[in-house]
Amino acid sequence: MKVTGNASGSGSSREARIASHSHIKGLGLTEDGTALPLSQGFVGQKSAREACALILDLIRSKKFAGRALLLTGAPGTGKTALALGIAHELGQKVPFCPMVGSEVFSSEVKKTEVLMENFRRAIGLRVRETKEVYEGEITELTPTEADNPLSGYGKTISHVVIGLKTVKGTKQLRLDPSIYESIMKERVSVGDVIYIEANTGAVKRVGRSDAYATEYDLEAEEYVALPKGEVHKRKEVVQDVTLHDLDIANAKPQGGQDIMSVVGQLVKGRRTEITDKLRGEINKVVDGYIERGIAELVPGVLFIDEVHMLDLECFTYLNRALESTISPHVILATNRGKCVVRGTEYDAVSGGEGIVSPHGIPLDLLDRCMIVRTLPYTKEEIKEVLKLRARIENLNLNEDALDLLTEEGVKSSLRFALQLLSPASILAKVSTRTEIMVGDVQEANTLFIDARRSARSLTSGQGGKFL
Ligand SMILES: Nc1ncnc2c1ncn2[C@@H]1O[C@H](COP(=O)(O)OP(=O)(O)O)[C@@H](O)[C@H]1O
Ligand SMILES: [Mg+2]
Repeated sequence: MKVTGNASGSGSSREARIASHSHIKGLGLTEDGTALPLSQGFVGQKSAREACALILDLIRSKKFAGRALLLTGAPGTGKTALALGIAHELGQKVPFCPMVGSEVFSSEVKKTEVLMENFRRAIGLRVRETKEVYEGEITELTPTEADNPLSGYGKTISHVVIGLKTVKGTKQLRLDPSIYESIMKERVSVGDVIYIEANTGAVKRVGRSDAYATEYDLEAEEYVALPKGEVHKRKEVVQDVTLHDLDIANAKPQGGQDIMSVVGQLVKGRRTEITDKLRGEINKVVDGYIERGIAELVPGVLFIDEVHMLDLECFTYLNRALESTISPHVILATNRGKCVVRGTEYDAVSGGEGIVSPHGIPLDLLDRCMIVRTLPYTKEEIKEVLKLRARIENLNLNEDALDLLTEEGVKSSLRFALQLLSPASILAKVSTRTEIMVGDVQEANTLFIDARRSARSLTSGQGGKFL
């Protein structure tokens, strides 16, 4: 079911941010935690990966609470990739929420509010629900009309008769007109397999009964088998949601129809905004669920990139949030060395200079961090990653073109070389070739320059006037 997809508003942009790491499937470790040269999409960066393996052990043995992992290293050395690798290692259904430090600065939402939201995006809940459902193939669908008592014209639907069939039997149901509305919304017709939730009346179309399967090779329909058992039954449903999904679902109960019944209405009443009070109420209900064994907490990974962009207020919040009983695993990343902690510039203590701290992180938070450093890649490693990416993106890369890209990677950064792949492939396509040749890479490289060349062209010569 698509609870996560539906509910989280900016979900798609977050996925797009992960897309360039789609080749990363884990940390590529052996049983005893040593990093393989190339495994699960990970190349090199051996000691950082092994350090992360240790962190994984700490997380699994529940000894990581109250701490955070800090990844430091130059841009494009695989900090985000490592964080994602850890999330993969923790399990498939573990939420991963990436954010960038500067996201917290908005004129409309409080900084800590943004942090709080992302914290809740990174905490998953696995809910087991036993639902009473009616499931079967529709054999009959007849709305019965009646005169509208309120006006002389028009008619209203008084009830709907629906026939459902399973392998074991058939049943005829008389349904409320409001359920007919959801039936219309799901666009179901005779021959479809549906299920109706008994207590909410939510209707879900499962697919078309395979008795109606035709002989087309290609079709948009999904055919499903006739359900087994009785029409009326109890069904166990397992769903993975994040706390943020619950916040949203309960802030807008009108959207709760296709979302889970119970989860969608944890808190009664209509609200339009996620408030601390609402969150508190949801936490209480969730706690109850966990105690009764209906739900299980799945702490995910919150990844804060460019953590030096956060300010003192955010760091204070982070410190406190790490202490809380339900906290995700927090991974921070930065490419800064010593710099001023934002938000301390006007502090009287520092004499208006600001407090300088390693990575721009206050010492009390640094104290809680386990720091792992990522190192620059060698030429061979860059080449391996490029080859991997080309395979994932289904690109046919000429051997010389690969060498040239590798050189670019050494000169600027791995990320820059990876970014040249797509434009080069488009240029190849324009010349009606499937293979990417040296020329395509060269052209892409003249069209898009890396940061160093860009800065140089602006400070020297004709570009200088822009500064
Ligand atoms: N060791 C590695 N193995 C495979 N791919 C990597 C490795 N390191 C980085 N990458 C890939 O290179 C790109 C840039 O790395 P990224 O993790 O975004 O760097 P950073 O976060 O340190 O700036 C990403 O597409 C990433 O998946
Ligand atoms: Mg990154």
